Amino acid sequence: MSLQLGDAAPDFTASTTKGELNFYDYLGDSWGLLFSHPADFTPVCTTELGRTSNLMPEFEKRHVKVMALSVDPVEQHKEWIKDINETQNTDVQFPIIADENREVSMLYGMIHPNADDSMTVRSVFIIGPDKKIKLTLTYPAATGRNFDEILRVIDSLQLTAYQSVATPADWKNGGDCVILPSITSEEAATKFPKGFKEVKPYLRLTPQPN
Ligand code: BEZ
Repeated sequence: MSLQLGDAAPDFTASTTKGELNFYDYLGDSWGLLFSHPADFTPVCTTELGRTSNLMPEFEKRHVKVMALSVDPVEQHKEWIKDINETQNTDVQFPIIADENREVSMLYGMIHPNADDSMTVRSVFIIGPDKKIKLTLTYPAATGRNFDEILRVIDSLQLTAYQSVATPADWKNGGDCVILPSITSEEAATKFPKGFKEVKPYLRLTPQPN
């Protein structure tokens, strides 16, 4: 069965472009973004890894450690990184796993045989500091991911982990949030000093509390 939200993220030790790394040691107390791509020297993947690299200050601001993966060998990853740096105007520093024996891919269900029996699909796992899986996304090979959406989701996960709110459709950092149904309006009055608007008893909006 595939990994589900709330499951412990499987630990592993793997060969990467930054040497052999243990995943849990690499994450430490940080959040984690583990994502796979189909293959090196492919156009969409080149843009995705370049975009991730250019967003590293944003991931660091949110205390998110990043690790990528494909089933290509480490020397090939290193050659490809030169192209990513050149074409995407960046300097890739996060590790890319060389999962030649497919151990990590199988652990995380990143190979979907009915889509492609050898290459990894575009999987995304966001992992909390408790090492639990907080979010999964799966995209097909021909569709590059939206990394603004990945940052938006991290903002929501980090907000809702610590505040009694959820984030509505199309929420962006700084936008109004909804108060959890488990919070009574009496509790809300003290919990949310910025106030709240009751549209319906179950739909109460408050300015972002943090
Ligand atoms: C790409 O990254 O461009 C790609 C990889 C595999 C299949 C299709 C596109």
